[in-house]
Amino acid sequence: MNSKIEALDQKIAEAQLGGGQKRIDAQHKKGKLTARERIHFLMDEGSFEEIGMLVTHRSNDFGLENEKYPGDGVVTGYGTIHGRLVYVFSQDFTVFGGSLSETHAEKICKIMDLAMKNGAPVIGLNDSGGARIQEGVVSLGGYADIFYRNTLASGVIPQLSAIMGPCAGGAVYSPAITDFILMVENTSYMFVTGPNVVKTVTHEEVTSEELGGAMTHASKSGVTHFACANEIECINYLKQLLSYVPQNCEEDAPSAPYSTPASEKRTQLNDIIPENANQPYDMREVINGVIDEDTFFEVHKHYAENIVVGFARLAGKSIGIVANQPAVLAGVLDIHSSTKAARFVRFCDCFNIPLLVFEDVPGFLPGTDQEWNAIITNGAKLLYAFSEATVPRITVITRKAYGGAYDVMNSKHIGADMNYAWPSAEIAVMGAKGAAEIIFKNEIAAAADKDGKWKEKEAEYQTMFANPYRAAERGFIDEVIKPEDTREKLIKAFKMLENKAVKLPRKKHGNIPL
Ligand code: HXC
Repeated sequence: MNSKIEALDQKIAEAQLGGGQKRIDAQHKKGKLTARERIHFLMDEGSFEEIGMLVTHRSNDFGLENEKYPGDGVVTGYGTIHGRLVYVFSQDFTVFGGSLSETHAEKICKIMDLAMKNGAPVIGLNDSGGARIQEGVVSLGGYADIFYRNTLASGVIPQLSAIMGPCAGGAVYSPAITDFILMVENTSYMFVTGPNVVKTVTHEEVTSEELGGAMTHASKSGVTHFACANEIECINYLKQLLSYVPQNCEEDAPSAPYSTPASEKRTQLNDIIPENANQPYDMREVINGVIDEDTFFEVHKHYAENIVVGFARLAGKSIGIVANQPAVLAGVLDIHSSTKAARFVRFCDCFNIPLLVFEDVPGFLPGTDQEWNAIITNGAKLLYAFSEATVPRITVITRKAYGGAYDVMNSKHIGADMNYAWPSAEIAVMGAKGAAEIIFKNEIAAAADKDGKWKEKEAEYQTMFANPYRAAERGFIDEVIKPEDTREKLIKAFKMLENKAVKLPRKKHGNIPL
């Protein structure tokens, strides 16, 4: 028996060496961790249990029959993060460049199936040269098996993708279907076709980093939600992200310990809104002033910065925040901010995370660029996402709520549960200047002092509508509150909504305007 145990130990040692020490050294030289080191830093100490360590590929083409590595380029298994079960796969670049073979795909599918049956998140650590070129179509089939599972798992269990090396060609579509993508600056990239193909087809000269690096996708395309300075930061973000989300769509997110202080008043909130309604302020000050201290975990920070989204805690409970950002483009809604917010709203709704909206929006961004690129369809995504969300939903209007954007930003009319406004709120069809120009056009034209008349009419409209009271009279606003009381009001309201149950009309699925 001893010799058999020794033989097993030898197999395990061989598997743990992946593609061999030389390739491990090369990996380190690039500033990258190995697949196993990443798992070590990600999971609670000693909790990781590997599955399929001895799997090898089945290919006999191009001499592959003579080159087999136990594990076949991906480490898969389960363990815990902060004591909670998660499934993980970590691609091993030291084995055939982490390329995806038939068996490599089977290993990933196996843990995805387990994750679905047991209702726990899946984390993918991607570092791969794509399809195993020697295997041809079976590798492509393997990808499709994963994409299919990603889709079925969407909205059932959280799926997180960290990109820690190459991710190119069709391989990008698995992360794209998952809930969140994290990329590491300078050592990871994602693109459908690389710089060489781009040069041939479009004659553009571009580096991998410019074409599909972390900051490119974090700021330009929005493909990634997080750009991380290094792999350890990426792993820490994964853990932090998980702390705000439940294990699956049937559960609630974990709460953090919270003891009620004598007063929940936050007087600093009274001084954030500038006297001049056209002056910007940073909505993050409002967010941080309301939530539990240091709990805001911003998502998509560098993309469509005119809207801010992220997770936070309120009285220890996980919430999702969507907030117009008056400090960028006056907080206007455009194509990118609408899709960014819509995707976040849908994630929160999938996973029972209540939504809190802070609203200061002058409307939708005008212009040919926006119209020709379908602000209509894209703005509708946000409208649809809010309308369909059944989680507790609360809105606080801090200043402007103009036009269609008033309706879209979680208004009472599309199903919000509680709608508050600060006394600084202006709820109207449009700003006073534009309104005066249209409805008093003839009076202004007839006046000797046109400018003076315009100003007079602007002031008239301003007095009538640049306040929250018309909406409050109608019940569209449930209460006009002092900024300092916002936290207390929200804690009470979310508690009141804790058992909210809404049934949407029976259907196969809706048809969100994609
Ligand atoms: C088999 C691969 C491989 C692949 C890399 N390797 N990619 N083996 N299939 N796809 C092997 C290399 O032969 C090498 O083996 C080792 O991995 C490391 O690769 P290097 O090239 O030495 O590393 P590096 O210089 O860092 O370059 C990494 C790379 C490059 C940029 C990823 O290897 C590369 O361009 N690979 C091919 C990428 C590709 O075209 N993939 C197919 C895309 S199409 P040794 O033995 O030397 O260590 C696709 C379709 C998916 O994926 C469709 C889904 C629907």
